[in-house]
This record gives sequence, structure tokens and C-alpha cells, in this order.
Amino acid sequence: MSATEFSAGSGPEAGARAVSPVVAVVLVAAGSGQRLGYGMPKARVPLGGEPILMHALRGIVAAGVAQQVCIALPAGDSALRRMCDDFKAELVDGGPLLTVVDGGATRADSVRSALEALEDATQAVLVHDAARALTPESVFHRVVDSLAAGALAVIPVIPVVDTVKTVEATTDEDARIAPEVVVGTAPREKLRAVQTPQGFDLATLLKAHREVAGFDEAQAAAITDDAMLVERLGVPVHAVRGASQSLKITTPLDLIIAEGLLEGPLGARWVEG
Ligand code: C5P
Repeated sequence: MSATEFSAGSGPEAGARAVSPVVAVVLVAAGSGQRLGYGMPKARVPLGGEPILMHALRGIVAAGVAQQVCIALPAGDSALRRMCDDFKAELVDGGPLLTVVDGGATRADSVRSALEALEDATQAVLVHDAARALTPESVFHRVVDSLAAGALAVIPVIPVVDTVKTVEATTDEDARIAPEVVVGTAPREKLRAVQTPQGFDLATLLKAHREVAGFDEAQAAAITDDAMLVERLGVPVHAVRGASQSLKITTPLDLIIAEGLLEGPLGARWVEG
């Protein structure tokens, strides 16, 4: 599909523009951060002296790809809301429109809340985890370039270094040997670890999320990214190179690595993964 076709029907000036769709970033930051063990939402956890959310926001603005940034925050978190308001005031003219919404019980709920708050002119959306606070600008650019070239869905990926196996719980009689048993080994050269920002044609992502309405609780709980919903529609999901600095800060070890990246001689955003 050409970039012109990408534009068709997805915005007020559809067809007039050949490349560079009107892009919004949905920044999901409503997670509890339980696995980090800080006793506060992850977005507020300090990294190099600043909350994780601020690193994520600065990275998005520095990439310069978004006309709007819509942030999903933990419902009722006034400290994070204030932080976003202060950041809005800091932005010089020409920065993106900053919008804040209450996140939901699951990541997918948070994404949907933010999608509903996007400006009418939006044609493409990048869904980004605040937990990937050190994502280099180059990754945003690769994702947007792919959308501009005609992709309806594109994700940043990195090769998997570990051999990955699928397992099942052992039967009662084998439980004393080990809790799980291996049922398969995926060919490693075909495996990729998936990161964010994940980029989509807005209409395609909205359609994919509408399907979730018919999901039962177990299916809804199994949604770990947006691309998997688009795959269900039969839409090709393209993959571009991610970066190791885009690690998802999830555990205390991740936080130590992120601190190390920030203190590195070149600074986290300038070291290609
Ligand atoms: O928990 P998980 O690792 O999937 O979180 C990935 C991202 O989704 C994080 O940035 C987190 O803040 C966000 N999230 C959210 N709303 C939830 C759960 C997670 O915005 N209910």
C-alpha cells in the first residue's frame, strides 16, 4: 500500500497529503508498578532524580513526531496530573498538545480511554509504554517512517538472545519432580522481543480494539500489546529495529540498568542498541 493510500479516508485532508500522517502518541502510564516494589505507581518512581513519566514525556517530545500526546494516568493520581500540567507549561510554542485521561483496570482499557480523547485530525497513533522511558528518538522515527511508507501497523523489535520454550504445569504425579514440563522449543532465529512505540493507522487500531468488547475475562487479561489485536484482523504487522535501551522498567534490576544507562558517558538516548 502506498503512503497516499494510507492517508485516504483517515483524516479531514485525506488524499491531499502523500506522507507524514498526523500522529498522536498514546502514553500508557496507569500501571501499579507492583513488581518494582516502590509502593507507588511506576510512573512516579524516580529514575536519575526524575519520575519515570518525565523521562518518557521528554523522549516523546524530543522525537518531534507527535501533534498530540495523550497520557493515561492512574485514576485520581493528582501528583502525576500536576506533573503533566507543569510539563505542559514548560513546553515552548510548537510542542504537541498534551491531554490527560484516567487509565483503566488493564493496559488495553487505558489505551482505549486515551484513543477516545484524540483530536479529530489524528490519522496515526503510536502506543507507547511509559515504562520504556529511555526509548531513543531513532526508534520513534523508524516507526513513523514505516507508517508514512504505507504500513497500517508497525512494531519495534529486537532479536531474542535466550532460547525460548513453551511449558505446561506438570501433572499431579510429576509435581514432586518439577512444577513444569517443556512442550516445545520455538526456533530462536525467528523470534523477536517486542517493544513500543507500536504504530498504527488510527482507524485500524480502533477497529481492533472494538473487537475486544466480545472478549471474555481470560481473553481480555491475555492482551499484552496492541499489535496482537491488529493481527487478529488479518492486517499485516510490520517490524522495524527497536533498541536495547527501550527496556521496559519492570523489576528492581531494570531500574538499576536504566540508572546505569543514564549515567553512561554518552547518555541513554544517544547509544544505539
Ligand atoms: O503491566 P505492564 O508491564 O503490561 O505495563 C505496560 C505499560 O502499560 C506501563 O507503562 C503501564 O503503566 C501501562 N498500564 C496502564 N494501565 C494499566 C496497566 C498498565 O496504563 N491498567
